[in-house]
Amino acid sequence: MAATPKQPVAFSGLGPLNGPMSGLLTWVDQRFPLMSLWRDHLAEYYAPKNFNFWYYFGSLAMLVLVLQIATGIFLTMHYKPDAAQAFASVEYIMRDVPGGWLIRYLHSTGASAFFIVVYLHMFRGLMYGSYRKPRELIWIFGMLIYLCLMAEAFFGYLLPWGQMSYWGAQVIVNLFDALPVIGPDLSVWIRGDYVVSDATLNRFFAFHVIAIPLVLLGLVAAHIMALHEVGSNNPDGVEIKATKDAQGRPLDGIPFHPYYTVKDTLGAVVFLFAFCVIMFFIPEMGGYFLEYNNFIPADPLKTPPQIAPLWYFTPYYSILRAVTEDFVIWLALGVFAYMLLILFTARGCLVKLAAILAAPVVILLMKGPFAFEAKVWGVVLMGVATLIFFLLPWLDQSPVKSIRYKGPLTKWALGIFVVAFFILGYLGTLTVTEGRTLIAQIFTFVYFAFFLLMPWYTTMEKTQPEPARVTM
Ligand code: HEM
Repeated sequence: MAATPKQPVAFSGLGPLNGPMSGLLTWVDQRFPLMSLWRDHLAEYYAPKNFNFWYYFGSLAMLVLVLQIATGIFLTMHYKPDAAQAFASVEYIMRDVPGGWLIRYLHSTGASAFFIVVYLHMFRGLMYGSYRKPRELIWIFGMLIYLCLMAEAFFGYLLPWGQMSYWGAQVIVNLFDALPVIGPDLSVWIRGDYVVSDATLNRFFAFHVIAIPLVLLGLVAAHIMALHEVGSNNPDGVEIKATKDAQGRPLDGIPFHPYYTVKDTLGAVVFLFAFCVIMFFIPEMGGYFLEYNNFIPADPLKTPPQIAPLWYFTPYYSILRAVTEDFVIWLALGVFAYMLLILFTARGCLVKLAAILAAPVVILLMKGPFAFEAKVWGVVLMGVATLIFFLLPWLDQSPVKSIRYKGPLTKWALGIFVVAFFILGYLGTLTVTEGRTLIAQIFTFVYFAFFLLMPWYTTMEKTQPEPARVTM
């Protein structure tokens, strides 16, 4: 008997397809799961009904990602990745290419906007405990995205081949020099030369225009897939999948489309308005989005008086600069105190064992006979400051997820952490003085205390019970 042909099964999520495009959509759907993708991720993806202002930034991050890729393609058509021509090619884009100035400013403003949006998106995660079980992988993919974004911004910043591009790359690649044993070879390998040169520019260009964007797109896909597997968190920290109606739909959920597509469109319009105001009227943003020294061509023989990265890296840059020889003593004392805290108050034997084995080694490497230079500890601390966010799902031991139901200790800790992040960020844009270094050192301690003391303050404080259903 001949097999019965597969029947068309195209549905829009609101019923069978019967519009003018139904024939085409049915044809596609028999060959590609278009409608089921649409249903699973938009029309029948149930999101909590209490999303607030903080839930705009995920979709805005996607918007900026698309903007950066689109403008990047057009910039690449006119840019020359050649040390002798790069600076002039950017000037050519700004002055001679029709609309070139617009494309360039969209891309340079977009870079800072990306970080603003992503920092706000991460802050939302911190507030509502969106990194907690079962969303650990969403957070980990997010953190990998953040690291890629930093790499993307760093590689991209060399391309205009201005003074800051050149000397910024020189300073950052030289940091690898400080690593024991492999450091010097590693930094030559990264640069492809003994100094930042044409070889460096070529490889940074390759990373910026293809390698990192590919990884970034893959990670964003993984981020969204993980999110849609477990479902979104919300300002109450309620798991909406726990309470469903007879049809299996979450009672506290609403379909993503049309409700949140409309809400996100409003967010995109407001965001684009603010974005255009900055791009058309203050694209340099007082030197924060485009540094003035970068309008001078790179000169390997002339170091600028002050070398500072763009604002989104300055909190970490401040931590790097805060680590002086004297400060390493305080760090060693901090490690010792933390070990005692674990030994006297932690419950797990493994944690205690790890502390008693690791802390003396770290202290000896800080101040023992084979101690590393302060510069090495600066690099280590800067790296740990970015990577420590990965541990949040396990550091936060609170019985509740959302800040709404946590106690005053967490609220204060998060508030002080944000202040520390801003102060470190601001100090990183300034030249070094003794007083500023001292402030940076104090806030470096505050920064790490937020994370390292989290298992204690999240369990000590009195929390309120999380509601079973969302509150509006
Ligand atoms: C290119 C960068 C990124 C894009 C395009 C992106 C996109 C999204 C989108 C569309 C959502 C769902 C909507 C929302 O909850 O706002 C989301 C949720 C989430 N993202 Fe991201 N994201 C990015 C970076 C990050 C980073 C850097 C982190 C943290 C390190 C992160 C952590 C999270 C978490 C925890 C959620 C779940 C939030 C919840 O359910 O409450 N994302 N992301």
